[in-house]
Amino acid sequence: MDKLSITGGVRLAGDIRASGAKNAALPILAGTLLASTPVRVSNVPHLRDVTTTFELLGKMGVRVTMDERMGIEVDPRPIHDLCAPYELVKTMRASILVLGPLLSRYGEARVSLPGGCAIGARPVDIHVAGLRQMGAEIDVEKGDIVARCKRLRGATVVMETVTVTGTENLLMAATLANGRTVLKNAAREPEVLDLANFLIAMGARIEGAGTDTIVIDGVAQLEGVDYAVLPDRIETGTYLVAGAMTGGRVRVREARPTDLEAVLEKLEASGAQVTTGEDWVEVDGGGRRPRAVSLTTAPHPGFPTDMQAQFTALNAIAEGTGVIEETIFENRFMHVLELQRMGADIRIDGNKATVHGKAFLTAAPVMATDLRASASLVLAGLVARGDTLVDRIYHVDRGYEQIEEKLAHLGARISRVPG
Ligand code: EPZ
Repeated sequence: MDKLSITGGVRLAGDIRASGAKNAALPILAGTLLASTPVRVSNVPHLRDVTTTFELLGKMGVRVTMDERMGIEVDPRPIHDLCAPYELVKTMRASILVLGPLLSRYGEARVSLPGGCAIGARPVDIHVAGLRQMGAEIDVEKGDIVARCKRLRGATVVMETVTVTGTENLLMAATLANGRTVLKNAAREPEVLDLANFLIAMGARIEGAGTDTIVIDGVAQLEGVDYAVLPDRIETGTYLVAGAMTGGRVRVREARPTDLEAVLEKLEASGAQVTTGEDWVEVDGGGRRPRAVSLTTAPHPGFPTDMQAQFTALNAIAEGTGVIEETIFENRFMHVLELQRMGADIRIDGNKATVHGKAFLTAAPVMATDLRASASLVLAGLVARGDTLVDRIYHVDRGYEQIEEKLAHLGARISRVPG
């Protein structure tokens, strides 16, 4: 298994480009199944989860072609297999996103139940309940969700928990349903809005995406379009934290600062100077050690859970004490155990981690457990004394395009060690 070797102590400086958002590309690629004609998607990040999605679509018989600029063309017309098998779903839970489109466009779907993962049980009961309300017959057979429905009908669905992919699955299903669907307590993440904009471009009738109530009037069919995925706000936030932690100056171009307000607020609270433009954002740590910040994760526009691990790492070397409260997932402190191996002083009490900042961390061999935990270990390696070796970095490759190239461009001493 590949590892990343990072020699700490460099103050990062420079600017990099944000890649397309993984968590928008995945639902949009699933949404291509709804189209009656080929769809082109650009600004798709070159990530493990994206290639897994291509594999899944290809297995269904969908034609996926890529041009040299990572422009993707998806032609769903040759589809012949309405199934997402366990061997693919177990590597990427977001495969569940094909359920709504398959059911709505083709009237049936067999999708392996995604198991839990390192950060929590992550059930899909809200996805299933909403589709049942829209008239689907859904059973679980040998670990697969088996769903059938001649044609879904519009319904008013109140989701008991704010769920990003749950909202996305039901949003996609509703575009071809018969009548009006109202999704209440909908997720407001920018990636949900990007998916809605993609569906609207294909001819869907959607109002209110980006708010907690989305109204969809079903149409007969959707036509392929050419759509560019929005920039990745979590990737952007991760590199900005790297700038703040190393006391450096990092600018991320082709980004969307408005998607990151809660994160930028916390970066300012840590003492970094934040400046933004139309499509860029810059953090200047001013050569100083960051100040500790306290935060509580929440659905958008609250502080994103996907940035929690990165701020835990920042607090590990900050001045003072910060309390990190995780309210979305029940087990999203796996990175703490690894940071402690590097000397971090962190105490976990339920869903709260109290972090007493240390003047320095010490490099150690550490192991990635999930995508954002692995990012926090890379960040810790950037400031630790010595050479940190991060193992199981296939987790990193799921969500960070060219991470070592981007960090090296900013001056980091980082290399990939073939495992
Ligand atoms: C999406 O996951 C993201 N993944 C996650 O990003 C992100 O952490 C999460 O949203 C929260 O923002 C993608 O978009 C592909 P949820 P998702 O459904 O949709 C509970 C990353 O690092 N829930 O919003 O799976 C669930 O257990 C990944 O890029 C139910 O109870 O998350 C959790 O506690 C990690 N029943 C809460 O809702 C359901 O049917 C929020 O989960 C669905 C969810």
